[in-house]
Amino acid sequence: MQTRLLFLGPPGAGKGTQAQLLCKKYDLMHLSTGDMLRSEVSAGSPLGIEAAELMNKGELVSDSLVLSIVENRLNEASQGWLLDGFPRTVDQAEALSVLLGKIQQPIQAVVVITLDAEFLIKRLLGRGRTDDNETVIRHRLEVYKEKTAPLIAHYTKEGLVKTVKGDGDVLEIASRIEAVLS
Ligand code: AP5
Repeated sequence: MQTRLLFLGPPGAGKGTQAQLLCKKYDLMHLSTGDMLRSEVSAGSPLGIEAAELMNKGELVSDSLVLSIVENRLNEASQGWLLDGFPRTVDQAEALSVLLGKIQQPIQAVVVITLDAEFLIKRLLGRGRTDDNETVIRHRLEVYKEKTAPLIAHYTKEGLVKTVKGDGDVLEIASRIEAVLS
């Protein structure tokens, strides 16, 4: 089983849901930049205040801000890890590559979870997070297409991509993911 992983996919594809299951089962460190940013927002920290406005509009927060919160956690990694929602731009992927080079822990696999837009929107409207209203969801999908989807080609060139369909039952999808990682 590969244990240095990255999950990619549009908002609502199920990255967070699947990441939690896999991390629990294999004792991996789950690094979700969305969750980390939401903790900063709840704490009302200066970083959270800066991030909240952008998150509520469905925009990405700045690369430097995200890198600052990820770097410390990865530096202390002593077990396998799963990056969920990071990197989200080619610049973030390049910065990550430098960081992982320093700690000599290269990525072993990039799992791309796919799902049609109509299902993504339905799922997210059913969840109701502050950035889950239809206008913001549609904008998040556009931002994903423009800034994050190019990472699929980036990691395909490195031979790391495994694509998994994100439709169906949660546990069925978990089995598909484990199958491509074993
Ligand atoms: P983030 O928290 O990463 O949100 P996201 O990528 O939009 O992803 P979601 O959490 O919406 O979807 P998911 O794929 O994780 O699906 P989930 O499992 O939750 O980022 C939020 C914001 O933070 C960004 O917009 C940006 O502003 C900022 N940000 C974060 N990282 C950043 C970065 N690196 N750089 C810059 N900015 C950054 O599932 C969704 C719903 O579907 C849930 O209700 C779930 O219960 C349900 N569901 C899951 N699986 C199934 C299933 N199989 N069947 C039915 N329902 C399901």
